[in-house]
Formats: sequence, structure tokens, C-alpha cells
Amino acid sequence: MIRRYRFGTMIPTDSVVQSIEISGENPPFWQGGPTRLTYRMQPEDVVYGLGENLRGINKRGWHYVSSCADQPIQTEEVLSLYGAHNFLLIDGREQRFGVFFDYAGRIEYDVGYTDIDELCVLPADENYEMYVITGDSCRDIVRQLRRLTGRSYIPPKWAFGYGQSRWGYRNADDVRQVVRSYRENGIPLDSVYLDIDYMQDYIDFTVNKSRFPDLAALAAEMKEQHVRLVPIIDAGVKIEPGNETYEQGRENGYFCKDEQGNDFVGAVWPGLVHFPDFLNRDARRWFGRRYQVLLDQGIEGFWNDMNEPAIFYTPERLMQAVHSVAALDDPDIAMDKYFSVKNQLGTLINAPEDYAKIRHRMDGETVEHEKVHNLFGYNMTRAAGEAFEEKYPDKRILLFSRASCIGMHRYGGIWYGDNRSWWDHLRLNLKMLASVNMCGFLYSGADIGGFGADTTEDLLLRWLALGIFSPLMRNHSSMGTRPQEAYRFTRKQDFANLIGIRYGLVPYLYSEFMKAVLTDDMLFRPLAFDYPGDEHAPQVESQLMFGEGVMIAPVMEQNADGRYVYLPERMKLIRMRSTSDYEEQVLEAGHHYVRAALNEVIFFIRPGCVVPLADAAQCVEEIDTEHLRLLHFAESGTAEYRMYDDDGYTRDYEDPANIRVLRVTV
Ligand code: GLC
Repeated sequence: MIRRYRFGTMIPTDSVVQSIEISGENPPFWQGGPTRLTYRMQPEDVVYGLGENLRGINKRGWHYVSSCADQPIQTEEVLSLYGAHNFLLIDGREQRFGVFFDYAGRIEYDVGYTDIDELCVLPADENYEMYVITGDSCRDIVRQLRRLTGRSYIPPKWAFGYGQSRWGYRNADDVRQVVRSYRENGIPLDSVYLDIDYMQDYIDFTVNKSRFPDLAALAAEMKEQHVRLVPIIDAGVKIEPGNETYEQGRENGYFCKDEQGNDFVGAVWPGLVHFPDFLNRDARRWFGRRYQVLLDQGIEGFWNDMNEPAIFYTPERLMQAVHSVAALDDPDIAMDKYFSVKNQLGTLINAPEDYAKIRHRMDGETVEHEKVHNLFGYNMTRAAGEAFEEKYPDKRILLFSRASCIGMHRYGGIWYGDNRSWWDHLRLNLKMLASVNMCGFLYSGADIGGFGADTTEDLLLRWLALGIFSPLMRNHSSMGTRPQEAYRFTRKQDFANLIGIRYGLVPYLYSEFMKAVLTDDMLFRPLAFDYPGDEHAPQVESQLMFGEGVMIAPVMEQNADGRYVYLPERMKLIRMRSTSDYEEQVLEAGHHYVRAALNEVIFFIRPGCVVPLADAAQCVEEIDTEHLRLLHFAESGTAEYRMYDDDGYTRDYEDPANIRVLRVTV
């Protein structure tokens, strides 16, 4: 059951699609007023939710701030990442409920940080709506939230293949070289991502002709090899007289304004930019249609970046800092002065003072950016998503974003931004898969191998052993870091086999993904969602349920030859080295140490379940879904698998012919 409460006058977010009557009474479970709501937690209560965030699947013991942030330093003390996902699920022995805050501004969640047993929610003002959801189970509560907020985005099937990316592929030959190396080494590949270097001076919807003389021809050449090119689009439009996007935006008043009503100026990769006002319907429609420039060149997918929006500096504040530095004409200065100047430079980036100057036009009204900050990246992605739907009603286009907010999940997926090549970020990747699923982001993933810092061969192998389950499976890294394409390392065959396992599992992954989307369910679930009575399940932070029939438990420690796994029931262990080389072993419920060498993937099949497995293929289009091996844990009788298997490219999702029933009889 969903109850809706309204406080003040909220700015529309379009996050909710279902209409629910407003409830008169006070929200159940909560004490306090709209800007300070509290809930007294029992010691055993688990708090799930908050989507893309640091820390555990259980969010207790820390505080978090819902405010989309360009945050490349993802250490434990960080309060916000790129997404603002205002959903919490409190699972206690006595009470279980979900709560969704439909609000575009900043919210602080103190989940037992100040008082270990108190959950306190502090929205920046009292203008929002709140939905309290009760239900039979955690899964049921999530399903209700998802129905409330609308069906999740579905990418084309090729986007379930493996993608290679790096900020550093500078020209067409670099791209060709990557593809050639993958193919020569027999390592599967479906996409190569183009980072900002494909653009002319980082100007959106342009192509650098000396580096990429004929993008359309390159896209066609790649597609012949079953590889899609996926270019990046940045939120900031370079101030470049003569450039079409800039000129059209300026002439039509489509850019965000400053306090004086001039186009707001910030600096990002291109230098000085204006930001399209994605909250203005007309500007959104215009920007979405600009993607056509690349679609016309055979591009079928995009990643939207820097859309929190990231602002490296604004000209005024940079000049103030420069003057402070210039005023230092003696190297022997007082340390407080030195640190004050240093701080002035260090706080230029993503400064609250700069965001405070931005103004939007929403339905004819001027709105301060701070009040709608979390809608910015959402509406950039919505701009593209709506334009694609209008132009190609029957074709799926890959689209995912860095910044997001619940509601955006209808238009695109997300990646988790600039992580690092740390074992800890591998563990974080696993936790986030479940948390973002609750909030509707089913197509998602982290930069595999880590974006910043130098990866190692073992980290990449272990990360891929998790990544093979992640809908978005993309290896991406920053320039200046150790190259981390799979063919760069010595154990090439192991990489080929591991990534090959992904392709073997695509029939199951795709089918479970589609069923989860179509039934508003989660693809990844914390163990306690599936085993509600199990006392130990809520403690498990390093294993997840994956689709209906599988539990995953990747090795996430360096130099480990395996890991402890908790089995809430009897399951079948699959230890796989390639799609044709694996062992099966039935394990009883309880704790086990399970070995998994660097070249092995382990996962577990639940009783009565079937997992179709294809032969490894070099790309999604070559997967043979007609000849599937059926892995299963059926000890007697017949087990069935309902496999969702459509064409993968059109949008005829509801056709009953998309379901094939596969049977195993023992
Ligand atoms: C941002 C993105 C990263 C990208 C880089 C350059 O840091 O998060 O993925 O490679 O910008 O465009």
C-alpha cells in the first residue's frame, strides 16, 4: 500500500507516474515535522536504499547527502556521489516500510550517525511529497515503488556485451587497434566508447576531422565487425561563436541564466561553457534533437557526462583566486595565508557559491538551481531519451548517464562514475548493484578495473568475474593510468575465457533483466530479500541474488584463493573456467570456504532452478540461443526456465512469443 503526503508547494520532478490520492493524516512511522523527520530504529533494523552511494548495502551507521556530486574521490567519508536516489527501505522485526521523498533539492539522511538508533531525514526545505510504502516483503515494497515511478529503461541487446573504453583513445586508428587486438586475441567485444577526444575542441555534437576524418565510415566499418561506437556527450556547451549548438542555444534562450539574467558561464573540459537548461521543456526538446547529428552517422548509443553539472570554476572566482596568488610577492609568507590561498584554488571546483547563481526557466517561472539541482542530469538524459522515442519509436538506443535521480531510470541507465583501481571499489560495485536496482536503475555498472589509479592483472580478473553479471559491463580508465584493456596482460586466454563466460550467460542475464524490468522487480537483491526469515542473511554484504535462480559471491580480496560464502539453503556451486570447462558441486546450507582461482568464476544455483548457458561468442549477435546447455539444480522431476528471448532491438516487449519455456527432467 502506498500513502502519499504533501508538504508545502513542491517543484514538479516528474519522478512519479502513478496517481495516488493525497492522504490527510500524518505519515505513519515518522515523528517530527517536514524539515526534520525521525524514526526510532530497533537494533536489528536494516536500512536499505539510497541507490548510488558509499558504504554498505545496509546504510546504517553513517550519514549521506542527496545532492548529485562530481566526486572522483570515493573514500569512506564521502557523503554524496553522482546520483540522488531518495528511497529508503526499513526492514525490521516489528515494522517494514519504504519511503520515497519526491524532492529535487538537497536532503541529508542521518542513518544512525548522530544517534546510533535514530534515523533522521533533513530536507533543505519543506516543499516536497513523501510516499510511505508498506507491503508483504522488501521485494514487494520495491515493486510498489517501481510501479509508482515507472518502467525502467531497456537498452538494445548488444549493450549486454562487453565494452572497452579509455579516456585516451585519440583517433580512429587507436579505436581500430583496440578492436583488432581484441579480435586477434579471441577476447569478445561489442562496443568501444569514445571519450571527449573525438570531439572538435570538446564541443558537443562535433567530430574532430583530423582525428576521426569519417566517423560514419568508421562506425560502419566497426559495425561490420559487430562493434558499436558509443560517444560521450557532456553537459556544458562550449562558448564558440559559429558553432551551431552554441548559436542555437544562445539565440533561443535555451541556456541556464545567472542572477542578472545573462547566460551562466562555467568552465568544464571545453573551457568556458553555457549549460543547456534541461529543465526548460523547449530547451530539453532542442538538446535531445541535437543527438541526431551523431545518430545520422550511424551511432546507436551515448553516455551523458559531467551532468551534475560539474563546474571546474567560474571566471569571476578564478580571477579572485588568481589575484590572491599574484598578491603573494614574498615566498616567506605566514602559513595561514599560504593555506588560505591554496584553499581558495582548491575550492573553485563544484562550488556551492557558483551553483547558487544558476537560474532555470521551468514552465515560465524562474527557479533557483539549488532547488532543482538533482533534476539536472536526469533531464539531460530525459532530453535524449524523449527525442529517441519520438524519432525511433521502435528502436532501442543505448543511453546512460553519470548524474541521476529517480525518474531518470525510465530514460537511461547509469554508470557509477570515477571510481579507482581499488579492491574496495570492487566491493562497492557489488553493493551498489543491489542498491541502485531498488531505485529503478537496472541497466548500470561501474568502470571495471577502476577508472583512476593503476590496475593490476589480478584486480581486473576478479573485477571481470563480478562484471560478467553486471548489465553494463564496461572496462574504462582514465588517461595517465596503466592501460587496462584485457589484452594488455599476460593471461590473455584467461581474460578471453572469463569474458566468454559473460557471453555464455547473456541468455540468462538478458532474460532475467527483461523480466525484472517488465515486472518492476530487481535483478540483484540482497540475500535477505529472498530469505526473509534467515537470521544471518541481513549480515551478508558480499553476495547477491542474481535473477531468479542464481546467487553470486565473487572473490574480492587480493591474493585470496577463494572466499567464505554463506548459503541460506542447499545450493549447487558452479565453478567455471570457460563455458565448456566447469564443475558442479552440491553444498549444504551454512558457511563454506569456496576456492576460486584467478581464472575461475563461481556462482550458485538455487534448488529447482535452471540457468541456460550458451557457448562463448565473440559478440552478442553471434550467441547461439537455439543450442543452450541447461545448468540446473533439479534433483528429481522436472524443472522449468521461462526464458525471455525477443529480438533485442525493437520495443515489442509484451509479445507472449518472447517467452520460451525450457525444461529439464531428471
Ligand atoms: C569524467 C568522466 C570519465 C571521463 C572523463 C573525461 O571524469 O566521469 O568517465 O573519462 O570525464 O571525459
